[in-house]
Amino acid sequence: EKTTISVIKADIGSLAGHHTVHPDCMAAASRVLAEGKREGVIEDFYVTHVGDDLVLIMTHRKGKDNKDVHTLAWNAFKEATKVSKELGLYAAGQDLLSDAFSGNVRGLGPAAAEMEIVERPSEPIVIFAADKTEPGAFNLPLFRIFADPFNTAGLVIDPRLHIGFTFEVVDVFEDKGVHMNSPEEMYDILALIGTPSRYVIRRVFRKDDGRIAAVVAVERLNLIAGKYVGKDDPVMIVRAQSGFPAVGEILEPFAFPHMVAGWMRGSHFGPLMPVPVRDARPTRFDGPPRVIALGFQVKDAKLIGPSDLFDDPAFDKARQVANEVTDYIRRHGPFMPHRLDPSEMEYTTLPQVLEKLKDRFKPVKDLPEPKIKHSEMLSGTEEAHD
Ligand code: 13P
Ligand code: 13P
Ligand code: MG
Ligand code: MG
Ligand code: MG
Repeated sequence: EKTTISVIKADIGSLAGHHTVHPDCMAAASRVLAEGKREGVIEDFYVTHVGDDLVLIMTHRKGKDNKDVHTLAWNAFKEATKVSKELGLYAAGQDLLSDAFSGNVRGLGPAAAEMEIVERPSEPIVIFAADKTEPGAFNLPLFRIFADPFNTAGLVIDPRLHIGFTFEVVDVFEDKGVHMNSPEEMYDILALIGTPSRYVIRRVFRKDDGRIAAVVAVERLNLIAGKYVGKDDPVMIVRAQSGFPAVGEILEPFAFPHMVAGWMRGSHFGPLMPVPVRDARPTRFDGPPRVIALGFQVKDAKLIGPSDLFDDPAFDKARQVANEVTDYIRRHGPFMPHRLDPSEMEYTTLPQVLEKLKDRFKPVKDLPEPKIKHSEMLSGTEEAHD
């Protein structure tokens, strides 16, 4: 019998801006999932949040993209949104883009990462969720976990990892994907995934036997909505140990707080700070971007755990570096590369500013010299220099 792990998240509104989910919203979502568990739609669930994103972690027997499971998640978000609206929370229902739900959350705003597996006798998994960033934020850590022997010792010393992994890379603009093998095509993989706004790792498979190793929710809200409606704060599931990377190898890349797109108004680069759930409340300039990691054992489709994996002083240094990088890059204010390229910004006044200036833009050679005005405020000596 197979087990499916479905992690579905949505921003349904935040207390005071965009940094946290109100406990009453979490409770409302939990009630819906508890009812779904009683009715046998799902086997188990855990509700958490990262920043202002409500994260539903569910296990069941129904496979990926199952209508009943997606309906349950949608109803949980709807109930949580109702509470958001009652409380007047900010951006209530932000990620629920459509009222016409038809059995699958994909393309409607919520992000979904799902994997169907045959459980190993012991099935450790790590669930990641990030706020104030985009799905491509997991490209760098995924490459390091599954392709970098300096990160993952198992690639060198465990025969089942030694053969390598297959990366499924999606072009989110063209809605096309490609499977590429590591280590053979390592440089080609990097040529794509080094542009994380466009080429996003969606799944990773073990080459040995084709088993799923990792899956990321790659929905890009701005592409779905046709206009920017908030960053597509992503979730990810990774299997660990016994032929997959060890939990410590899966967490290790996050000891480097790499730069990701998102942060304030979805329009700035900043370091991805690994934090325990209690610190997943990004408030400095609405950030810096955060990532949480929860470790579970999956047993007979039940969730044992979680363990809050970044709640470890060994990640203090990463948080400290992230704070230093935050001080440094913030001083760029509205300048790139802190601010994103205009094509990736949540919203911009650039078209209006250009429209306003359109008659004043001239060929450079036709630009007049400014007329010198003589001011009584100026001293005689200065005027003499004219
Ligand atoms: P144990 O010997 O504690 O099982 O550790 C194995 C392992 O995978 C450590 O990364
Ligand atoms: P979220 O995508 O997390 O809602 O962030 C929106 C925003 O504008 C933060 O400044
Ligand atoms: Mg929000
Ligand atoms: Mg968010
Ligand atoms: Mg969001």
